[in-house]
This record gives sequence, C-alpha cells and structure tokens, in this order.
Amino acid sequence: MSDIITIPGAIDLHVHLREPGTNPAETIKSGTLAAAAGGYVLVCDMPNNPGNPTWILESVKEKQRIITKDAAIEVLVYAGAQPESQNLDELPKMAKQCVGLKLYGAPTTGNERDYEAEEFAAIIETWHKAAPKKPIMLHAGSGNLSGFIQLIAKKYNHPLHICHVNSAVAVELIKKAKQEELPVTCGVCPHHLLMSSHDEKSRGWFARMQPPLAHQIEAEKLFDHLVNGDIDVVETDHAPHLAENKWLAERENPSGMHDGGNRTCYGVPGIEFALPLLFYQMKRGRISLERIVEATSIKPAKIIGIEPPKKEITWEMTEYRINDDDVASASGWTPYNGMMAVGKVKSMGMK
Ligand code: NCD
Ligand code: ZN
Ligand code: ZN
Repeated sequence: MSDIITIPGAIDLHVHLREPGTNPAETIKSGTLAAAAGGYVLVCDMPNNPGNPTWILESVKEKQRIITKDAAIEVLVYAGAQPESQNLDELPKMAKQCVGLKLYGAPTTGNERDYEAEEFAAIIETWHKAAPKKPIMLHAGSGNLSGFIQLIAKKYNHPLHICHVNSAVAVELIKKAKQEELPVTCGVCPHHLLMSSHDEKSRGWFARMQPPLAHQIEAEKLFDHLVNGDIDVVETDHAPHLAENKWLAERENPSGMHDGGNRTCYGVPGIEFALPLLFYQMKRGRISLERIVEATSIKPAKIIGIEPPKKEITWEMTEYRINDDDVASASGWTPYNGMMAVGKVKSMGMK
C-alpha cells in the first residue's frame, strides 16, 4: 500500500449535529470540523434535535442560518415528521429546503415508542406529493420494516433508505425488495460492523445506541453484505452525547432498558474515524478501496440525487491506535478508543 492516496471526498447521509437544540455535545461548527478531519465534504443532518426537532420550516431555516455562518463543510438537512408532530402543512414547505424526510419508527434519542407503518400514511402521502424524488430515510423498528417498504417503496415507488441496519435478516428483506425493483437502499454504521453486543457488556452506555450492537456473527455477516453491495452505503450515525450524560444513564439505568429522560442516552459519536477504520479493514484484505469509495462517496451522492463530489481528499496512510486525543467532536470521546486505524487527512483539493 502506498503511503499517500487521493480519493473523492466522502458523503455521510446520517449525522446529528445537535444545533439548534439543547444537547451541548456538538455544534454545527464542531461537528463539521470533525467530519472534515474524517475526510467528509458533505454531511446530511438529522431532524431529531433535542428541544427543537426540525418539524417546521422555521426550524429548517434556523438550522440553515447556523450552517451558513459556522459549517466547515457542506451540510444538507432532513425534514422530520412523526404521527405526533402534526406538521403535514409544513412538509411541502420543508420539502423545498431539505434533502429528504426522516421518520423514526422505533424508540431512540428524541423518540419514545414503536410505531406501525400505517401511522405514517398521511405523512408519506404528503411528502410523496411534495417531493416524489427526495428520499425518505427510515429508522426502522424490529417489526415494522416490511410495512414501511410496502407503504413507501411499493405503494408510491418512492425512494426509501433504511438507516443503520444491524441484522442480516433486515438486509435479506431489503435485498428481496431490490429484486422486485423497488427503490430501496440501506446503510450500515462502522460500529455495527466492527463492534458487537459483547462490547456493550463491558462498556455499558458508552456502547449503547439504537439499533443496538449486534452479535459478532451478525456483525461479520453485515460486513460481507457491505463488501458485496447488498448494503449500499456506510453512514456514521454520528450521534454525540457528552460523557457525563452517558455516565448519568450508566448510574441510573445500568441495565439499559428504554425508559426515557436522563435514564437513556442512545447514540455514539465517531465521524472522524469511519474511513480510517475502513482503511484498516482494507489493509487486512477485507474490503477494497474501490468499494470503500463507492460506499462512502459515489452511492450516497446517488441516493440524494446529486453529482459525485468534485472535491478530493489526500490521505496519509499511517497506522495508529485511536484514542480520545484524536477526537475532534465536541463530545470529547470515542467508542473506537483502542481500535486500529489507518489514515489521517493530509489535504483537500479539487479534481
Ligand atoms: C441517535 C441520536 O442520539 O440522535 N441515537 C442513536 O442511538 N442512534 C438517534 C438515532 O439515529 O436513532
Ligand atoms: Zn436512528
Ligand atoms: Zn441517527
């Protein structure tokens, strides 16, 4: 392997930059600096801002004002809608400004319960009419994935992206939908590929996110599905929480049951390390550079309907062990502490 490589800038379809909102673990400035340190040139920000979900046009604009002022790289934003958000009127307005719509079908940060796909019927119909080509991004629950595929991809032929898959069963379902030529794609996170439920046993809340880490056998299957393209993209789900809030959940709710408030704190940061973790897997012969570029740059661009990035990143392919000193995110810690990585960003340029 040469010491220097130059590849297209990466695109992350799934980050939580937390601004505007009440979670102090990140800002648009700190989160985009972390993304730039990780070789990203564009990130797409999720709507579940604690205290200020992106459910109305004014919240979209507020976010975009901060992006214009502070962002180190390009940021696109998702609109959000939930059965309880009562924002059908806002969806066509937000559709013009946003890259897609995010739906939460299961409990996670900012969301308390499991839903039936049918509960989103009016939201999906409204979004489809307003923006037939802008994807719906789904945080699926364990039992509702088929229902959402039927309701979004089959009924309307509307592009549906399944976020952060953590099981081979889900990938098989998605594969079946693709074979039926439905417009469905999916993404996997570095933590679901390279960590396992065993880590949750030793790290507690510092290794808890939704969906949870999978068994190692499952994680290895996910890796194979990424390599062969059944999983389209790598998305980081960069979801910063302060270490002190992870500690609070750890003290008050060590078993990790979902019950809201301070007692739950799902999500982990780590966008700086996604590509270096993948480059280490490349060094071990598990994945090719071509597939990494496709899954982190070319395919994400396609999913959101833009041209592949013109900006290129030059990486110095040095090997290192990740530790908290390498963290650029304002959250100040990383679940990848101690893991092997290859690559530090040297420079960014145009093709
Ligand atoms: C995310 C967060 O903290 O915003 N948490 C997580 O566990 N992944 C929300 C999400 O993507 O589900
Ligand atoms: Zn999610
Ligand atoms: Zn997320």
